[in-house]
Amino acid sequence: MSEFEKNPPLTHVAIIMDGNGRWAKKRLLPRVAGHNAGMMAMKEIVRRSAELGIKYLTVYAFSTENWKRSDEEVGGIFRLLVKYVDSELAEITKNNVRVRVMGDYSPVPAPARESLEKALETTADNDGLVFTIALNYGSRAEITRAVKSIAKDVKSGVIAPEDVTEQLISSRLYTGEENGNIPDPDLIIRTSGEERLSNFMLWQSAYSELEFTDVLWPDFTPEVFEKMLEEYGHRERRFGGRK
Ligand code: IPE
Ligand code: IPE
Ligand code: MG
Repeated sequence: MSEFEKNPPLTHVAIIMDGNGRWAKKRLLPRVAGHNAGMMAMKEIVRRSAELGIKYLTVYAFSTENWKRSDEEVGGIFRLLVKYVDSELAEITKNNVRVRVMGDYSPVPAPARESLEKALETTADNDGLVFTIALNYGSRAEITRAVKSIAKDVKSGVIAPEDVTEQLISSRLYTGEENGNIPDPDLIIRTSGEERLSNFMLWQSAYSELEFTDVLWPDFTPEVFEKMLEEYGHRERRFGGRK
């Protein structure tokens, strides 16, 4: 498989998959139908990312705030997760994709949790695309958890306050050691015309390029995706330095 090459380098693409509800509403369908269509779109983007040789793809699937939605919608989303794993696990395994999860998935319904664990275990030895699903993920919860774990180590004397560095904080996030140190996203895409991060990767996005499209997530195709990757190629990243 060819290694994906871009200038500036593009190692990690993250996507805030938004607009499923509006897509369904436009068609007078229940919101869950929008999530189903969104899952189909996601399948295609995972497939294309693996074909392109992208190293890391992260998708925001369910936020810590999304529990505010109706039981029907929340239940529907997690049932779709089971459906996704059942229908796709064989193919993603064959395509050398490694599935990872960021977020505390302990409160998700048991069938979805078991499907996720199966996907994590089955793909654990794969070394192609790292496909990370942000599930019950919120950046503030993530940072809070990291701070707590560092505070405990300081209190017990394992580390000194002076040892608290940016690297240490990064290593305690979901993207840190527990998930094999996923690099910060180079590009964050958000669909559906909303232009905000909604508690997604606040620490990791310090220097990410941001791209927005009005396309609703279920209508997001590999062609739209590749156009957005193309646009990234025109960005000039400075990281605070000078060109
Ligand atoms: C994104 O679509 C999926 C999740 C947040 C789970 P939405 O369900 O937020 O769709 P809109 O924003 O209501 O259109
Ligand atoms: C962000 O979308 C969460 C996901 C895409 C999973 P939301 O639809 O929940 O965000 P807001 O409420 O519009 O900010
Ligand atoms: Mg939304």
